[in-house]
Amino acid sequence: MIIKRIEKDEDGTVTLFVCADVEGGEPDYSQLEVDRLVEEGKFPSLQADNQDINSAMAEAMSSASSMQIKVMQGASSPQGADAMQTETVTDKYSDGYFDSYASLEVHEVMLKDQPRMEAYSQAVQRCKHLIEGRAVLDVGAGTGLLAMLCAKAGARVVYAAEASSMAVDAAAIVRANGLEGVVKILRGPIEELDLPEKVDVLISEWMGFYLLHESMFPSVLFARDRWLKPGGLMLPSHSNIYVAPVSMEKLKQEKLNFWDDVLGLDMSHLKTQALQNLVSTPQVDILAGDQLLGEMRTFATINCNTVTDLELRELVKEMEFTVVRDGELAGFCCCFDVQFEGSESLPGKSDRVILSTSPLDPPTHWKQTVVMLGAFPKVAAGEGITCRMSLVQDADNPRHYSITVELPEAAQNRK
Ligand SMILES: C[S@@+](CC[C@H](N)C(=O)[O-])C[C@H]1O[C@@H](n2cnc3c(N)ncnc32)[C@H](O)[C@@H]1O
Repeated sequence: MIIKRIEKDEDGTVTLFVCADVEGGEPDYSQLEVDRLVEEGKFPSLQADNQDINSAMAEAMSSASSMQIKVMQGASSPQGADAMQTETVTDKYSDGYFDSYASLEVHEVMLKDQPRMEAYSQAVQRCKHLIEGRAVLDVGAGTGLLAMLCAKAGARVVYAAEASSMAVDAAAIVRANGLEGVVKILRGPIEELDLPEKVDVLISEWMGFYLLHESMFPSVLFARDRWLKPGGLMLPSHSNIYVAPVSMEKLKQEKLNFWDDVLGLDMSHLKTQALQNLVSTPQVDILAGDQLLGEMRTFATINCNTVTDLELRELVKEMEFTVVRDGELAGFCCCFDVQFEGSESLPGKSDRVILSTSPLDPPTHWKQTVVMLGAFPKVAAGEGITCRMSLVQDADNPRHYSITVELPEAAQNRK
């Protein structure tokens, strides 16, 4: 391994940035191997790039508290210079987001989500003819599940990009399943990784609450534009966000009416504050079908093959509903589906698989997201409700969106 650069932080940790000394400039994806060797105290053999680096290393090491080695993907190729710039990109993501995905519990919840697991596994099976013998990219591989499904479906190679430390476990899991010949775990944000080739298929599970929370999708779009061959297969390929008016009687009882009588004491003074809390944060909960006061309407339709990051920053739509049962209108519920139907230029459209998070379908870990109105006007079957809903990406924290629902003034004043 060739040392390309040296850095020392305030704690005295020396980081050696190295590239694989592989003929022909092909990266060997050996960060995980290197991590393991370093952990075991066995350092891989290193060579300085030039005399300056040699002396810089000697100086840095003379007072080093610890040492770490970072392998620069593709750095033995001319792109090596780009790879050296990676810290600026990494800083953009130092918001704890990837740390949250280092937690086993988070992955356990996802792996136990039956509708999610079935949809992805069926989609891979139905697109087997498009995966066999091809190159696949899994964006956000987590434990390696989707990458391994594609490997088992006959992929020639699967590049599995994972930014969190779960990448280390994914590599072990891939090895335990004897798939290391096909699945190449690449640790790092996809925005920083260098793949040796463009891919035929891009698979990813990027969805957050109400679809767009977490804003992982822009990373997938980046990967699509950078690494997917023209006309390649996106899994999933399409998505919709749906909205419906809902009643929330149980929540109203538990969070508001509760204050009317606490062991015989009137604490209703706190109801205003409690209502404010309900309104300020969308409620993520599993709703029963009979909480829907109107039919679901499509708020947004997204074609994953063509949509751009910019188009997802602000979504606004006016919607009309007809009330289907008498009740108290508490707010509007958002849910989504993703569909796997192949791309325009590839066959497979007829084999569509849908993963739905509607309250009318089996529950998933995404549940539903309800935006509360802050009032509970009575509505009667047959009457119309109009609202204007907007989803706007937060400028300060792009992983979050502000969801707003506005009712016409007349509706707001109803009791
Ligand atoms: C929703 S989980 C899905 C994990 C796995 N694919 C599965 O289906 O079980 C998303 C994963 O993507 C990773 N991730 C998110 N953004 C990423 C990015 N820009 N580059 C690489 N990994 C990313 C997260 O760390 C997380 O492990």
